[in-house]
Amino acid sequence: MDVKVKKVGVLGCGLMGSGIAQVAAQAGYPTTVVEVSKEALEAGLKRIDRFLAGGVAKGKVTPQDKEATQSRIAGSVDLAAVAECDLVIEAVVEDLAVKRETLARVGTSLRPEAILASNTSSLSITEMASATRRPGRFVGLHFFNPVPLMKLVEVVHTIHTEPGVADAVTGFARSLGKTPIRTSDRTGFIVNRLLVPYLLDAIRALEEGVGSITDIDHGMKLGCGHPMGPLTLNDLVGLDTTLYIADIMYQEFRERRFAPPPLMKRMVLAGFLGRKSGRGFYDYGSEPPRPNDFLVSR
Ligand SMILES: NC(=O)c1ccc[n+]([C@@H]2O[C@H](COP(=O)([O-])OP(=O)(O)OC[C@H]3O[C@@H](n4cnc5c(N)ncnc54)[C@H](O)[C@@H]3O)[C@@H](O)[C@H]2O)c1
Repeated sequence: MDVKVKKVGVLGCGLMGSGIAQVAAQAGYPTTVVEVSKEALEAGLKRIDRFLAGGVAKGKVTPQDKEATQSRIAGSVDLAAVAECDLVIEAVVEDLAVKRETLARVGTSLRPEAILASNTSSLSITEMASATRRPGRFVGLHFFNPVPLMKLVEVVHTIHTEPGVADAVTGFARSLGKTPIRTSDRTGFIVNRLLVPYLLDAIRALEEGVGSITDIDHGMKLGCGHPMGPLTLNDLVGLDTTLYIADIMYQEFRERRFAPPPLMKRMVLAGFLGRKSGRGFYDYGSEPPRPNDFLVSR
């Protein structure tokens, strides 16, 4: 059952959903986004407007492209609005119960050949696919944040996925100007499987007194050519987000490398979440941010 993606649906217009809707519309696809409330929908559409306006100000998007992109995006608070879409990408909150319920409902209104995809970072694609009546036409489509700027998309197949479905979605990702990579349904897929143990290990190195915050960050930046050090990256991603993913990965693999270190748990409990809460490994009240070296020395 082949399908050519002509119309795109996006469920959730938060940080990721708004980015996915934007890139789909920029690539020329008529795109429908669905939110839970008018307020949430308005906030999501405003985020798209701000992002495109920033592109215009930097000379990266023409005013005509901005207008054409926005004219291709329709918003709704009714799941039935995506019934005619060939590909529906779910980007609602990272809560399995909410995702399963939403996917089960939307799955019944789609055409049999339509493809459903989830943008989850850590939940099982197989478990979500099983909640729909179309597990063979369900894949993971994992975009990175910020979606309009990040080139990578992980395409995740399960043991249910019908031949041709992952190919169709891979072609769709390419049509957005992204570079798709293929992976099987294992928690963390490719990128987080490699990245999360590295982020956790940097915290363990700090806990064990291997180096200071600044020296660990400088080590990986200047010694390995990374654009930023691992503790700065922890702060950028948000310690609560990485802790959540690490917990799920530890449950799946039961390997120490995925186990969140005690310092990380204490920081999350104390509200040291990183940049978004104003402090993490660094204090963001000053410029440049000041390292919180007291984290391990008392
Ligand atoms: N934030 C990231 O860096 C990142 C990166 C890759 C993947 N993801 C994944 O993307 C998904 C969304 O994350 P986010 O950061 O955009 O979250 P977010 O909280 O910014 O957005 C989620 C949106 O979903 C909406 N929503 C909730 N239930 C809904 C429903 N039943 N129908 C329609 N909309 C609903 C909410 O109102 C909210 O606007 C998660 O699965 C997350 O794991 C996030």
